[in-house]
Amino acid sequence: MTTSFDNAAQVLTPPEPGLKYLRSDRANELALEPGGIIVEHGRIAALEPTKDADIHVDASGCALLPGFVDCHTHLPFAGWRAEEYEMKVTGVPYEEIARAGGGIKSSARALRETADETVLAQAQELAAEMLRTGTTTFECKSGYGLSTAGELRALQLATELQGIVSQNTTRTGLLAHAVPDGYTTTTWMDEVEEMLPEALEHITALDIFVEAIAFGLDDLDRIGMLATQNGINLRAHVEQFTTMRSVPVALKHNARSLDHLATIHPDDIAPLAHSDCAAVLLPGAEFMGAESTAPARELIEAGAIVVLATDANPGTSPIFALPTIVGLGVRRYGLSTREALLAVTLNAAYVLDLKDELGSIELDKRADLVLLDCPAEHVAYRLGRNPVAATFVGGEPAYVRPDAAWRIMEG
Ligand code: NIG
Ligand code: FE
Repeated sequence: MTTSFDNAAQVLTPPEPGLKYLRSDRANELALEPGGIIVEHGRIAALEPTKDADIHVDASGCALLPGFVDCHTHLPFAGWRAEEYEMKVTGVPYEEIARAGGGIKSSARALRETADETVLAQAQELAAEMLRTGTTTFECKSGYGLSTAGELRALQLATELQGIVSQNTTRTGLLAHAVPDGYTTTTWMDEVEEMLPEALEHITALDIFVEAIAFGLDDLDRIGMLATQNGINLRAHVEQFTTMRSVPVALKHNARSLDHLATIHPDDIAPLAHSDCAAVLLPGAEFMGAESTAPARELIEAGAIVVLATDANPGTSPIFALPTIVGLGVRRYGLSTREALLAVTLNAAYVLDLKDELGSIELDKRADLVLLDCPAEHVAYRLGRNPVAATFVGGEPAYVRPDAAWRIMEG
């Protein structure tokens, strides 16, 4: 079947095909030009429209972008933590909430007490919400298990989630998220090492929360070695609240991404920017938690691979809409539209090891696409409004806003 996307006001394309990523100081080389594309058998078959297609998508006045890739979420989880948000905004610090049994531990309790079907139903509903805001691929993490059985269950649920959502998903073992009761960081890392063979059946990356209230640099070093030994990617939550100097340790292990970075030490910016490790910035968590602001412009100017993600979780960032994250990123960090869009497409696909398959509009890639009802510049500018008219996964319409249904026509 052939689908022709006709007459778009803007099509976002990379400066050359086959890019692994685009360092964000080159984002201005992305084209946002009028045009169209052809999709055949779910793949991008030409970078121009055709009259001779089974389906036509009238993209007039629209921006056609690659589907958004959310490379950092904490799905699946159970329930919410709205009461903590109220504590936070009225002045109780996150670390204090966490020490008092809230935070990650309260989501762990909720997960333990919630049936599989209920956890999956909540995640499925959130995935549908994400589809309506243009996310065609997302990462799942464990991390609310906080026991061997709990972590493996979370990974199993994440694997099952793939079968009931429209998006492509990946799984990361955030096996060192909070130190479970009765353990030290070291004895918990021993457990992590023991559960790893089973976890490996599900995951393509390992993750750790390096923080004064969580794990330390030795644990990061250890998980880095485990990732390398097992041929999977190392990712890490670092420098969120406390400057721990995690960056040199993670770079030694060729981390694929370092996430948060709100309090990165200035001396660590250049080494990170010169490496192949992506800087995943999470402006939703920064905004909702009144955290420090990551030095995005410095990272970009130093040549980093900058990525934006939701960090979607019930605690620090209950935001699932990448257009909102783009808007927050643009405002908080001073990003251009191209820098922000690059950060939720090609560079985010690189973090998930999917850059050969998706993340940009180029020949032979999977036709995961977002059709916006406005110019791309409006995504950030009209903050809080959903600009998505339709979302396509593998060339098929996975979500069409009712007022945009007329755009998709047979013959
Ligand atoms: O990425 N920083 C640690 N982990 C999550 C928060 C998880 C939670 O509070 O439930 C984050 O912000
Ligand atoms: Fe996170």
